[in-house]
Amino acid sequence: MSIISKDISRAIELLKANKVVAIPTETVYGLAGNIYSKEAINSIFTTKKRPFFNPLIVHIPSASDLENIASYVPEKAKLLAKAFWPGSLTMVLKKQTTIPDLITAGKDTVAVRVPNHSLTLKLLDKLPFPLAAPSANPFGSISPTKPEHVENYFKNEIEMVLDGGACTNGIESTIVGFENDEPIIYRLGALALEDIEAVVGKVIIKNKKEQSPDAPGMLERHYAPTTRTYLTSNVVEEIKKHSGKRIGLLIFKDGFKDANVTTQIILSSTGNMTEAASKLYDAMHELDRENLDVIIAERFPDIELGKSINDRLQRATFSS
Ligand code: TXA
Ligand code: MG
Repeated sequence: MSIISKDISRAIELLKANKVVAIPTETVYGLAGNIYSKEAINSIFTTKKRPFFNPLIVHIPSASDLENIASYVPEKAKLLAKAFWPGSLTMVLKKQTTIPDLITAGKDTVAVRVPNHSLTLKLLDKLPFPLAAPSANPFGSISPTKPEHVENYFKNEIEMVLDGGACTNGIESTIVGFENDEPIIYRLGALALEDIEAVVGKVIIKNKKEQSPDAPGMLERHYAPTTRTYLTSNVVEEIKKHSGKRIGLLIFKDGFKDANVTTQIILSSTGNMTEAASKLYDAMHELDRENLDVIIAERFPDIELGKSINDRLQRATFSS
């Protein structure tokens, strides 16, 4: 029997009983549990096989709940919350003492966001506690953007995926931290850098492992298909290098006619980067199922969501 269900009352029951439930958000599906339940949080980590030093994101129903989570909110964080919540912005802030160490991996900061998905907002509204939720994939693999992706990963480990359809944004939230009250990007994501800068001015990006060693979303290889994947600006050249192999192409907008290509997925035939982001992981899941020898992914223009997409593609590839 499928674990995918639209029954929100059952999700509430399970979560109140310290169980883990996969929930939809506008970015990716999350593996959710009560932030105050040791049992729930431990089972999130073990289900994902995630190391305990990786902190989790806390999901709250509205910005007005932020005071229960963060002990201090810089002015620019307030502006960002006002502009983008509910939405694909996660902020790392000084934590309230009531936030368990298990959530924050012992750090004195906590990551928090208000997701923009009506079903999950309803769920959060009805629960007497916030939900911790990392992406609902085994550590290191491609994040899920459809309920079926989660079911394929975890049908034997969890009891329910709350069905909220396909994720509209399709890549993880953008993570912003603060140093001396100034915003720093720790992870590029579904909210474009340019949109953030329009509200708070120029921001610094520190999304490399060496710049932010304790943010594991920053691992160099992450979000990765099991099929060997190459990222290139010159698809024609890359195809030549792999001739004779079963090649899968992941391309932005213009299809290729090439006898060497077994399968190709065009992410947005109209060249719309929002559409491309929303389809990216599903396309990676799909290509990964096709027993290809290699996947060749086309590099995106390095602006707006293209920057975030390139970041994920980079982490999906083996590069020398
Ligand atoms: O879109 C998203 O953000 C999804 C949905 C489900 O909300 N969640 C998600 O969670 O991507 P996860 O656990 O896969 O990624 C969370 C990232 C990790 O890279 C973690 O290191 C970072 O957030 N993080 C969490 N708390 C942090 C903290 N206190 N300081 C720095 N980084 C933190
Ligand atoms: Mg993740």
